[in-house]
Amino acid sequence: MSQVTEYSQKVMDHFMNPRNVGEIENASGVGTVGNAKCGDIMRMYLDIDEQGIVRDAKFKTFGCGAAVATSSMATELVRGKTVQEALGVTNRAVMEALDGLPKVKIHCSLLAEEAIHAALWDYAEKNHLTIDGLKPPVNDIDETEAFYEMEK
Ligand code: FES
Repeated sequence: MSQVTEYSQKVMDHFMNPRNVGEIENASGVGTVGNAKCGDIMRMYLDIDEQGIVRDAKFKTFGCGAAVATSSMATELVRGKTVQEALGVTNRAVMEALDGLPKVKIHCSLLAEEAIHAALWDYAEKNHLTIDGLKPPVNDIDETEAFYEMEK
């Protein structure tokens, strides 16, 4: 992806008109993650049917514009997907779907990826399931960010 220095139209659209804001009552899985450094918090709700398909996804984000846009796009991307496919919705996939993010805002997309993972983890625990490749959620993504920076 080429270097992006400002917000794309898609980011602005998802920030100004976020999709799927709210809560799901009796959600199959709920995940909350935060970044202690910036103080932003994201909560993701997933409704998953008996076939393991994500029927609905909603979010609440207390954070920056990029965090709102990435959570909005993340909920759009996981809807209709199997649990395994939802696990594959990485922060990179979210960023690409938004036509990129400025470098300083990449960590915001990581919050979206981790929120999906945390909600999937909650779903798996409630249903005594194992989802291949799913790691236990982290409360503060700032810890994983250092790892992510090294990987780039
Ligand atoms: Fe913290 Fe965007 S500045 S998530």
